[in-house]
Amino acid sequence: MNTVLIDGINYDLNSLEKDTWNRLLNAALRYKDPLHNAVVANVNTNGVNMRTVVLRKVWPEKRQLAFHTDIRSGKWKELQQQNSISWLFYDAASRLQIRLAGTTTLHQDDVIANEAWATSSMSSRKIYLGDEGPSVKSLLPVSGLPPAFETNDPSLEESLAGRKNFGIVVTSVNWMEWLWLNSKGHRRAAFTYGEKGSFSADWLIP
Ligand SMILES: Cc1cc2nc3c(=O)[nH]c(=O)nc-3n(C[C@H](O)[C@H](O)[C@H](O)COP(=O)(O)O)c2cc1C
Repeated sequence: MNTVLIDGINYDLNSLEKDTWNRLLNAALRYKDPLHNAVVANVNTNGVNMRTVVLRKVWPEKRQLAFHTDIRSGKWKELQQQNSISWLFYDAASRLQIRLAGTTTLHQDDVIANEAWATSSMSSRKIYLGDEGPSVKSLLPVSGLPPAFETNDPSLEESLAGRKNFGIVVTSVNWMEWLWLNSKGHRRAAFTYGEKGSFSADWLIP
Protein backbone atom coordinates (compact mmCIF):
# COMPACT_ATOMS: atom_id res chain seq x y z
CA MET A 1 0.00 0.00 0.00
CA ASN A 2 1.68 3.23 -1.09
CA THR A 3 -0.88 5.52 0.52
CA VAL A 4 -1.71 6.65 4.03
CA LEU A 5 -5.34 6.87 5.17
CA ILE A 6 -6.17 10.04 7.14
CA ASP A 7 -9.76 10.92 8.08
CA GLY A 8 -11.11 8.60 5.38
CA ILE A 9 -8.90 10.01 2.59
CA ASN A 10 -6.04 8.07 1.00
CA TYR A 11 -2.93 10.16 0.33
CA ASP A 12 -0.04 9.16 -1.88
CA LEU A 13 3.18 11.15 -1.71
CA ASN A 14 2.07 13.65 -4.33
CA SER A 15 -1.33 14.36 -2.78
CA LEU A 16 0.26 14.52 0.66
CA GLU A 17 2.72 17.14 -0.52
CA LYS A 18 -0.11 19.23 -2.02
CA ASP A 19 -2.21 18.82 1.11
CA THR A 20 0.67 20.00 3.31
CA TRP A 21 1.12 23.19 1.29
CA ASN A 22 -2.66 23.70 1.39
CA ARG A 23 -2.64 23.42 5.16
CA LEU A 24 0.10 26.03 5.35
CA LEU A 25 -1.75 28.31 2.93
CA ASN A 26 -4.90 28.12 5.06
CA ALA A 27 -2.92 28.60 8.26
CA ALA A 28 -1.47 31.90 7.03
CA LEU A 29 -5.01 33.19 6.46
CA ARG A 30 -6.53 32.11 9.80
CA TYR A 31 -5.11 33.35 13.06
CA LYS A 32 -6.78 30.55 15.02
CA ASP A 33 -5.29 27.83 12.85
CA PRO A 34 -2.94 25.53 14.83
CA LEU A 35 -0.24 26.09 12.19
CA HIS A 36 -0.55 29.90 12.27
CA ASN A 37 2.37 30.20 14.69
CA ALA A 38 5.63 28.41 14.01
CA VAL A 39 9.15 28.24 15.38
CA VAL A 40 11.94 29.37 13.09
CA ALA A 41 15.58 28.59 13.75
CA ASN A 42 18.75 29.94 12.24
CA VAL A 43 22.41 30.01 13.17
CA ASN A 44 24.37 32.91 14.58
CA THR A 45 27.87 33.26 15.94
CA ASN A 46 26.78 31.67 19.26
CA GLY A 47 25.10 28.63 17.71
CA VAL A 48 21.41 28.00 17.00
CA ASN A 49 18.70 30.60 17.66
CA MET A 50 14.95 29.89 17.71
CA ARG A 51 11.81 31.91 18.25
CA THR A 52 8.09 31.84 17.53
CA VAL A 53 6.78 33.77 14.53
CA VAL A 54 3.44 34.21 12.78
CA LEU A 55 3.09 32.53 9.42
CA ARG A 56 1.98 35.50 7.30
CA LYS A 57 2.11 34.42 3.70
CA VAL A 58 2.50 31.24 1.66
CA TRP A 59 3.15 30.91 -2.08
CA PRO A 60 2.63 27.15 -2.66
CA GLU A 61 3.51 27.30 -6.34
CA LYS A 62 6.88 28.91 -5.54
CA ARG A 63 7.43 26.77 -2.39
CA GLN A 64 7.83 29.94 -0.36
CA LEU A 65 6.50 31.22 2.94
CA ALA A 66 7.11 34.32 5.02
CA PHE A 67 6.97 36.05 8.38
CA HIS A 68 7.10 39.75 9.24
CA THR A 69 9.66 41.25 11.55
CA ASP A 70 11.38 44.41 12.75
CA ILE A 71 14.49 45.02 10.67
CA ARG A 72 16.25 46.13 13.88
CA SER A 73 15.76 42.63 15.38
CA GLY A 74 18.50 40.12 16.01
CA LYS A 75 17.11 37.62 13.54
CA TRP A 76 17.20 40.12 10.67
CA LYS A 77 20.89 40.82 11.28
CA GLU A 78 21.66 37.13 11.72
CA LEU A 79 19.90 36.18 8.49
CA GLN A 80 21.83 38.88 6.66
CA GLN A 81 24.98 36.99 7.67
CA GLN A 82 23.71 33.44 7.17
CA ASN A 83 20.46 32.92 5.30
CA SER A 84 19.72 29.28 6.21
CA ILE A 85 16.49 28.78 8.11
CA SER A 86 14.37 25.97 9.51
CA TRP A 87 10.63 26.09 10.33
CA LEU A 88 8.80 23.88 12.81
CA PHE A 89 4.99 23.52 12.99
CA TYR A 90 2.88 21.25 15.16
CA ASP A 91 -0.88 20.79 14.94
CA ALA A 92 -1.72 18.94 18.17
CA ALA A 93 -5.34 18.17 17.18
CA SER A 94 -4.28 16.61 13.87
CA ARG A 95 -1.12 15.17 15.46
CA LEU A 96 0.84 16.56 12.57
CA GLN A 97 4.36 17.96 12.61
CA ILE A 98 5.74 19.83 9.59
CA ARG A 99 9.39 20.76 9.29
CA LEU A 100 10.79 22.93 6.52
CA ALA A 101 14.29 23.99 5.61
CA GLY A 102 15.37 26.62 3.14
CA THR A 103 17.08 29.89 2.48
CA THR A 104 15.81 33.39 3.17
CA THR A 105 15.60 36.64 1.29
CA LEU A 106 15.04 39.83 3.29
CA HIS A 107 12.64 42.42 1.91
CA GLN A 108 12.43 45.92 3.32
CA ASP A 109 11.98 48.30 0.44
CA ASP A 110 10.51 46.45 -2.52
CA VAL A 111 7.20 45.22 -3.96
CA ILE A 112 7.02 42.25 -1.59
CA ALA A 113 7.54 44.41 1.51
CA ASN A 114 5.15 47.10 0.24
CA GLU A 115 2.43 44.51 -0.36
CA ALA A 116 2.96 42.96 3.08
CA TRP A 117 2.81 46.37 4.76
CA ALA A 118 -0.28 47.39 2.78
CA THR A 119 -2.16 44.31 4.01
CA SER A 120 -1.04 44.64 7.66
CA SER A 121 -3.65 45.67 10.22
CA MET A 122 -3.13 48.68 12.48
CA SER A 123 -2.63 46.36 15.46
CA SER A 124 0.13 44.57 13.54
CA ARG A 125 1.75 47.82 12.41
CA LYS A 126 1.79 49.19 15.95
CA ILE A 127 4.75 47.04 17.06
CA TYR A 128 7.03 48.80 14.56
CA LEU A 129 6.44 52.21 16.19
CA GLY A 130 8.94 51.98 19.05
CA ASP A 131 11.90 54.39 18.97
CA GLU A 132 14.23 51.62 20.07
CA GLY A 133 14.44 48.28 18.30
CA PRO A 134 13.95 44.83 19.84
CA SER A 135 16.64 43.60 22.26
CA VAL A 136 17.80 47.10 23.34
CA LYS A 137 18.32 47.03 27.13
CA SER A 138 15.92 49.00 29.30
CA LEU A 139 16.05 49.98 32.99
CA LEU A 140 12.35 49.17 33.33
CA PRO A 141 10.09 46.44 31.91
CA VAL A 142 8.66 48.61 29.13
CA SER A 143 6.85 47.72 25.89
CA GLY A 144 9.00 50.11 23.88
CA LEU A 145 5.87 51.62 22.32
CA PRO A 146 4.85 55.26 22.55
CA PRO A 147 2.42 55.23 25.54
CA ALA A 148 -0.62 56.19 23.44
CA PHE A 149 -0.28 52.99 21.44
CA GLU A 150 -0.22 50.72 24.45
CA THR A 151 -3.96 51.13 24.73
CA ASN A 152 -4.97 52.22 21.22
CA ASP A 153 -4.02 51.18 17.74
CA PRO A 154 -2.44 53.91 15.62
CA SER A 155 -4.43 55.63 12.92
CA LEU A 156 -3.39 54.80 9.35
CA GLU A 157 -1.39 58.01 9.24
CA GLU A 158 0.30 57.38 12.61
CA SER A 159 1.19 53.83 11.57
CA LEU A 160 3.30 55.07 8.65
CA ALA A 161 6.17 55.94 11.02
CA GLY A 162 6.66 52.21 11.52
CA ARG A 163 7.18 51.43 7.83
CA LYS A 164 10.93 52.09 8.01
CA ASN A 165 11.29 49.36 10.67
CA PHE A 166 9.15 46.77 8.91
CA GLY A 167 10.52 43.86 6.94
CA ILE A 168 9.36 40.53 5.57
CA VAL A 169 11.52 37.42 5.59
CA VAL A 170 10.73 35.05 2.72
CA THR A 171 11.90 31.44 2.85
CA SER A 172 12.43 29.42 -0.33
CA VAL A 173 11.88 25.87 0.83
CA ASN A 174 14.26 23.15 -0.33
CA TRP A 175 13.11 20.41 2.04
CA MET A 176 9.80 19.60 3.71
CA GLU A 177 9.11 16.82 6.16
CA TRP A 178 5.71 15.54 7.24
CA LEU A 179 5.19 13.44 10.38
CA TRP A 180 1.80 12.09 11.44
CA LEU A 181 1.40 10.49 14.84
CA ASN A 182 -0.96 7.55 14.96
CA SER A 183 -1.69 4.85 17.55
CA LYS A 184 -1.36 2.20 14.81
CA GLY A 185 2.11 3.45 13.95
CA HIS A 186 3.35 6.86 12.95
CA ARG A 187 3.89 7.80 9.30
CA ARG A 188 6.55 10.06 7.87
CA ALA A 189 7.44 11.51 4.46
CA ALA A 190 10.07 13.87 3.11
CA PHE A 191 10.04 16.08 0.02
CA THR A 192 13.10 17.64 -1.54
CA TYR A 193 13.01 20.56 -3.98
CA GLY A 194 16.25 20.77 -5.90
CA GLU A 195 17.66 23.28 -8.30
CA LYS A 196 16.09 23.63 -11.75
CA GLY A 197 12.75 22.31 -10.50
CA SER A 198 13.87 18.82 -9.50
CA PHE A 199 11.68 17.12 -6.91
CA SER A 200 11.84 13.93 -4.89
CA ALA A 201 9.40 12.43 -2.42
CA ASP A 202 10.02 9.54 -0.04
CA TRP A 203 8.33 7.70 2.76
CA LEU A 204 10.60 7.48 5.82
CA ILE A 205 10.55 5.26 8.86
CA PRO A 206 9.25 7.59 11.58
C1 LIG B 1 2.99 33.76 19.43
C2 LIG B 1 4.18 34.62 19.05
C3 LIG B 1 4.26 35.13 17.77
C4 LIG B 1 5.33 35.92 17.39
N1 LIG B 1 5.41 36.37 16.11
C5 LIG B 1 6.49 37.09 15.71
C6 LIG B 1 6.64 37.47 14.35
O1 LIG B 1 5.80 37.17 13.47
N2 LIG B 1 7.74 38.17 14.01
C7 LIG B 1 8.70 38.51 14.92
O2 LIG B 1 9.68 39.15 14.55
N3 LIG B 1 8.61 38.15 16.21
C8 LIG B 1 7.53 37.43 16.63
N4 LIG B 1 7.41 37.02 17.95
C9 LIG B 1 8.49 37.40 18.89
C10 LIG B 1 9.71 36.48 18.66
O3 LIG B 1 9.39 35.16 19.10
C11 LIG B 1 10.96 36.99 19.34
O4 LIG B 1 10.78 37.05 20.73
C12 LIG B 1 11.39 38.36 18.85
O5 LIG B 1 11.10 38.53 17.47
C13 LIG B 1 12.88 38.60 19.05
O6 LIG B 1 13.59 37.62 18.36
P1 LIG B 1 15.11 37.82 17.89
O7 LIG B 1 15.83 38.51 19.03
O8 LIG B 1 15.60 36.44 17.64
O9 LIG B 1 15.09 38.65 16.64
C14 LIG B 1 6.36 36.22 18.34
C15 LIG B 1 6.27 35.68 19.62
C16 LIG B 1 5.20 34.90 19.98
C17 LIG B 1 5.15 34.33 21.37
